[in-house]
Amino acid sequence: MDPFPPLAESIAYARSLGKPTVADLLSDAARDGRTLVQPRSGVGDHDAMLDLLLGLEHRAQPDVATITIDSYTRLLQLDTARRALRGDAGTLNGYPLVSHGWRRGRELNELVRAPLQVRHGSPDARLLFRTTLASGITSFEGGGISYNVPYVKNIPIASSVRAWQEVDRVAGEATAAGLVVDRELFGTLTAVLMPPSICLAVTLIEAVLAAAEGVRCISIAYPQGGHPWQDLAALRAIPRLAARYLTPYSGVRVHTVLHQFMGIFPTDWSRAIDLITYGALLAGLGNVDKVVTKSPAEARGIPTLAENAEGIFATRAALEQPLDRLVIDEDAVADELEAIEREVGELVEPILDQRDLVVAVADAFADGRIDVPFSASRFAQSLVTPCRDQEGAIRFADVGRLPFSQATRRRNDDLVRVRLRERADSLDGLMRDLYFFSDERPSPPWKWFGRRGERSAAHAQVAAR
Ligand code: 5AD
Repeated sequence: MDPFPPLAESIAYARSLGKPTVADLLSDAARDGRTLVQPRSGVGDHDAMLDLLLGLEHRAQPDVATITIDSYTRLLQLDTARRALRGDAGTLNGYPLVSHGWRRGRELNELVRAPLQVRHGSPDARLLFRTTLASGITSFEGGGISYNVPYVKNIPIASSVRAWQEVDRVAGEATAAGLVVDRELFGTLTAVLMPPSICLAVTLIEAVLAAAEGVRCISIAYPQGGHPWQDLAALRAIPRLAARYLTPYSGVRVHTVLHQFMGIFPTDWSRAIDLITYGALLAGLGNVDKVVTKSPAEARGIPTLAENAEGIFATRAALEQPLDRLVIDEDAVADELEAIEREVGELVEPILDQRDLVVAVADAFADGRIDVPFSASRFAQSLVTPCRDQEGAIRFADVGRLPFSQATRRRNDDLVRVRLRERADSLDGLMRDLYFFSDERPSPPWKWFGRRGERSAAHAQVAAR
């Protein structure tokens, strides 16, 4: 592997490319009320990656181009990534940038017109970020919480947060030297029925951590949940909450990003396009600065170039409609907005008040005061169970140990009461909520896990295997 160039050289190189950075485009989009469109894309082979990026550029002109990193690189299993490149360890589900090295990163950067972003899922992204910056790429997704709890089982929250503080420190140095690095925070988390206040609480904590290290361009991403007024309220909450909790840091620009639905997609092509269109409408109504698109092949897996382009076309087509003439139920949005802001305040304020934020976050997860449903991590309690209410908005079937006020609990309970009564079989209800937009319901091998109350017996059976 080539040694890394000094930061000053990477900065000079990035400037010499003569194309706007993602931070530049986000500022322009915010100023002009436009929404940038970005797909995900990544394949293992370098030439194939270049073909993919150029093909997408030729067909669909995304505003921001993406290098999605493979899972081995994300988890620092670099030897396995290299073996896979040689053809003796299966196929890669993304581009192993660290193994290809920053010189190849520069080649991609030079040949693709749009600025690039690196998207991944690494609890420890220090090496990947150095390679990214050395490639002259100035937009980097992830954070110490959101790239830990959905993805890994055994890494303490404090370790990943500290590793990401180092990433943010370098991003801050580049920013101070005049090259603004866009740091996008992955509010999506596990993407499985994520209550908006949990997404936003985690991204706000990560935003404070990033700003404290000198990051000045922060993209806060929110995943479409499926209920239009709840989603719109969550998007409107982002700048308001950022203004509230980032006040100690001057000069921070916060951008809003929408992920089109991240849950279980329809297998049927036209239904999938409908869902993508719905996401694009929400992005337009929410006036987000950027939307990350899905493809109609989402239910099957990683899209081909053509499938990926279809997602971009459908998104652009919707964004071009006169969305300001659509009627929004402003009362419903205002009600959701107030609830989301209150819930987020109740989650983050006890943490942000503490002197050592890293310890405070780790302790909060250990106690379940911050909690993510269905987390992969054994350092998150996952006592929270989400559900949809009768209208499809995402609520709490169980708030676990979240420190919610009486008012918050009462509102939630009122909204879910009827639905939970109907859901006599809680697992069946959960499956229905998860398959909300899907054209197929799973046949029931999952029934095997039993009803509520029988859960521990089922778990014991699993553990005994
Ligand atoms: N190329 C395109 N999309 C990808 N995703 C994951 N890896 C890739 C890749 N290499 C997408 C998934 C899902 C989201 C989490 O990321 O299809 O939509």
